[in-house]
Amino acid sequence: MLSNLSTTNNPGLKLPEELQGYHTLVPLEPSGTGVERRKFGNWYSTVYRAIRSSDGLPYVLRRIENFRLTRQSAFAPIEVWSSLRHPGIISVREAFTTRSFDDNSLVVVYAYHPNSQTLFDAHLKPKPPTYQSRYQHGRQQLLLQAQSTVIAERTIWSYIVQIACAVKKVHDLGQAVRMIDVSKVLLTGQNRIRISSCGIVDVLMHDTVQDMLTLQQEDLTMFGRLVFALCCNNVSAATSAHFQKSLELIGRLYSADVKNVALFLISKGGPHRNVDQLLDMIRGKVMQEQEEALNATDRLEHELQSELENARLVRLLCKFGFINERPEFAREPRWAETGDRYIIKLFRDYVFHQMDEQGNPVLNMSHVLTCLNKLDAGTDERIMLVARDEQNCLVVSYKEIKACIDGAFT
Ligand SMILES: Nc1ncnc2c1ncn2[C@@H]1O[C@H](COP(=O)(O)OP(=O)(O)OP(=O)(O)O)[C@@H](O)[C@H]1O
Ligand SMILES: [Mg+2]
Repeated sequence: MLSNLSTTNNPGLKLPEELQGYHTLVPLEPSGTGVERRKFGNWYSTVYRAIRSSDGLPYVLRRIENFRLTRQSAFAPIEVWSSLRHPGIISVREAFTTRSFDDNSLVVVYAYHPNSQTLFDAHLKPKPPTYQSRYQHGRQQLLLQAQSTVIAERTIWSYIVQIACAVKKVHDLGQAVRMIDVSKVLLTGQNRIRISSCGIVDVLMHDTVQDMLTLQQEDLTMFGRLVFALCCNNVSAATSAHFQKSLELIGRLYSADVKNVALFLISKGGPHRNVDQLLDMIRGKVMQEQEEALNATDRLEHELQSELENARLVRLLCKFGFINERPEFAREPRWAETGDRYIIKLFRDYVFHQMDEQGNPVLNMSHVLTCLNKLDAGTDERIMLVARDEQNCLVVSYKEIKACIDGAFT
């Protein structure tokens, strides 16, 4: 079937121009011939960023190639996922099948988190050595040095707590995550991680009936493999071939608590092994994470406060910019020496053009900020405004000046 495939935006790539209300598709990973492709389970997948026409916002489309939907009911889990909101999970929007890529594709749409990286890319991908410079006998030497691949214990705990909380949310809803992997957990900000790709496995495996408790147990095992991989800097750290060595390495690099959690998650355990047991084990770390999250919010709120003030002042300055220096209005009564625009002009001089006794300009930022803040608040405090030729002198309150400025825009 010939469809509306376009190469205009992406030369060399055949991508549909429009797809179920999304346009401007851009692949978020290299594709095309010569690129080594890993599989999503048994399927090839590609991730695109696309703009949704109805709101103009970016979203992520994960396309599974060559997938034939047998029953519409396979989309039922997407309904559940799309109503789930959690800071540790990338929100699912919708899913559909399409022939726009010239095959049968399944597409699941997710929230877009700019500049995110998979945990694999952030921590496990081999990093090139860096050059360190050093002086010896008065000469600079460049030494090749391997970059450290060990993740700090604090970071490991933060990741464990964030994933544990996300898993708890999903299990409490009677669902399973079904895909916890270093390539599917994204680092979306500093130390902030989110599980991506939720819902896909549910659709792909719809025809295979599986017991939910078993799937939830598998979540914990996958979580354990992820902890092993991160601690040992090796995706196959938890396989039987590497297991003993990995355990020794974790023992050497991390505290006994990390090792216990990794073992709890990976062990077959009884049917009672569940996420609540895990949360009991890591209670202290959850509290620490909560404490740090609250501190971070406080810091941000503080920053935001001053930014809000800045925004108010910028708006005020813009208003001044619109009003002042309008020689074209010189003859109009409102701009004359008795009009309200004149007061604004004098106030502008009072704020920005003060002179000292020697006739030098006064560049006093705190004077400017104090005046602008009082003006914005419209206080009753009165000030004396003097004309440049010192022939005129007006005593007005900030409140009155504020009214003059507001009046200029009505
Ligand atoms: N919701 C999202 N928001 C922003 N970027 C995303 C989102 N989901 C995935 N990405 C980015 O898209 C890229 C490809 O993701 P993907 O999950 O396919 O990883 P991968 O390493 O290619 O794994 P796989 O081998 O399974 O395809 C990654 O760099 C990831 O950061
Ligand atoms: Mg990929």
